[in-house]
Amino acid sequence: MFREYAPLWPFLRRYLPSTLLGALCILLSVGLKVWIPLLIGEALESFQQWSPADGKDALVSGALESALWISGTALAVSIVRTSSRFLILGNSRRVAADVRAHVFDHLLRLAPSFFLRNPAGQIMSRVINDLRVVQSLVGPVILYIAENLALFSFCVVVMFRTDPLVTVLALAPYPFAFFKARQLALRIQLGSAAAQSALGDLSTKVDESLSGQQVIKTMALEDSDLAQFDARARRYRDLNLEVTKQRAKLVPLMLGLTSLSTVVVLGLGGLRVASGETELGPWTAMLMYLGILAGPTRTLGFVISTLRRGAASLERLFEITSSEVEIQEPPPGQRVAFTPGELVVDGLSVTHPPISEQPHLEGSMPEGLDPERAKVERTVLRDLSFRLKRGEVLGVVGHTGSGKTTLARVLARQWPVERGVISIGGSDINDVALADWRRRVGFVPQEAFLFGRSLAANVALGRPDAPRSEIEHAVEISQLANDLDQLPDGLDTVVGERGVNLSGGQRQRTALARVFLLERELVILDDTLSAVDTHTADRILAALEKFLSGKTTVIVSHRLSAVKHAHEILVLEEGAIAERGTHDELLARGGIYAELWEKQERHEIECDELGIEITSEET
Ligand SMILES: Nc1ncnc2c1ncn2[C@@H]1O[C@H](COP(=O)(O)OP(=O)(O)OP(=O)(O)O)[C@@H](O)[C@H]1O
Ligand SMILES: [Mg+2]
Repeated sequence: MFREYAPLWPFLRRYLPSTLLGALCILLSVGLKVWIPLLIGEALESFQQWSPADGKDALVSGALESALWISGTALAVSIVRTSSRFLILGNSRRVAADVRAHVFDHLLRLAPSFFLRNPAGQIMSRVINDLRVVQSLVGPVILYIAENLALFSFCVVVMFRTDPLVTVLALAPYPFAFFKARQLALRIQLGSAAAQSALGDLSTKVDESLSGQQVIKTMALEDSDLAQFDARARRYRDLNLEVTKQRAKLVPLMLGLTSLSTVVVLGLGGLRVASGETELGPWTAMLMYLGILAGPTRTLGFVISTLRRGAASLERLFEITSSEVEIQEPPPGQRVAFTPGELVVDGLSVTHPPISEQPHLEGSMPEGLDPERAKVERTVLRDLSFRLKRGEVLGVVGHTGSGKTTLARVLARQWPVERGVISIGGSDINDVALADWRRRVGFVPQEAFLFGRSLAANVALGRPDAPRSEIEHAVEISQLANDLDQLPDGLDTVVGERGVNLSGGQRQRTALARVFLLERELVILDDTLSAVDTHTADRILAALEKFLSGKTTVIVSHRLSAVKHAHEILVLEEGAIAERGTHDELLARGGIYAELWEKQERHEIECDELGIEITSEET
């Protein structure tokens, strides 16, 4: 049973001394708390033994002394008890923060493929909601367990010494109740896992609806979107109600248990007091112990259910951290630094395994998937081989879906590749230290992603301490400088979440400007000029040529003019190289490239004549 909680141990261990001190405080507070009924019992007995012959003063001073002892002990209980809470609950926050950081750290190391498979809502829900359950697991639950264990053992020992028979009878129903509680708890665990997964699903839906607001509005999908949201919300509600029902059943069970024990002590113990077998004082103390036990017995319900819910949440959280990091840091013995040199690709193929075989997080499998189709694998790159000397430019063109982005991702080490296929400067890319790789290889992805910060901060993402003059220079090369006048705060304009208040072309050029700020050896541009008009693109290309001279470059583009000067151009068709050569060779060949070139040239001339600005997304 404890194995489920084992992953928490390394986090708990760091705070062991203060947790133990907290537990010690609990022990002390319980000991003192249990002492109070004894003091009351003693006081009662001394009143009972008082006779008028002793004088009133003796009665008053006796009462005063007892009152002082009792209130002093109660004060000590509250101080020690507060300290225990401060220590243990404080630690639960620290443990939760550490677990959160650990999970987040792992998330950052996971390859992009993980995020393509698992929706953000599912991941977010785990990191936020499941973590909250884990926090109660290491906070209140530990606190209550320690307190209840101490209270039960103290009370039972003292009660047993007072009247063994009544104690045994009073505690007899407990084992049965525990058995029943365990059954309910297992149901709570299953229900809770399903409810948390439904919450993840709901978060994914909210995330999707918010990101897709524009499409929803333009397509008038509000009603159907609401219906989809509603269905998920209702499922989450129903599953939660079921868990609440099971948890609610625990409360009467525990309450019934304490009432039953009280009845036993009242009835049986009362009879024994009447017959003179037991004294009034100890009997009263015993009743008070039962009263003390009522509290923990009730919290036992919470403890048992949270233990089970916590186990479910822990599993969901650590499912993330046990997800394989597909692009690993090479082991120290094998790790080499990035050495600039020839890029050699030898027989590169990429096949996406069938969806049913891809490792998804529980609940992240796409819905409504045809089981037969889920078993189909897709080969998107087939046996590509090429060599690119240091400082040379490779152009990659081809129809949409031909595998250009996949190739760019593999080269940027965003997608795993087996050993012996790609090497740079003589080393297999899998052996190059990842941090070094990320520092020396610049990749501008097809979809420009901006953070909700200022434009300048977005450009300086890879070098936050870059001087302003260099940022301005980078913005100039990417031809973004002309747009700055239109923006309210120029370079300091905050671009909104994901850069919403910039145009598509401005976003692309911002992403491009990032690379100019860095000293990269290998630069990979994935169709970075698609949303920019021809003339701006030409200016960027001219600037790029200067910036990229001496750097090994891979340019993926729909616009053929972008790759015109490349040392070699690959024309991809369905993942394979259909044609290859320089611009002139390909034109002379009269194949796909020549045909595309002619079409684009003609289109550009026509648009120029009509004064229309075109972007390659339109060609
Ligand atoms: N995770 C995936 N699983 C299965 N197939 C995928 C996956 N990602 C991409 N594909 C498929 O791989 C093929 C190549 O995609 P890729 O993005 O490389 O094309 P592209 O040439 O960059 O297209 P575009 O010009 O539109 O950007 C496409 O048919 C795509 O559907
Ligand atoms: Mg692409």
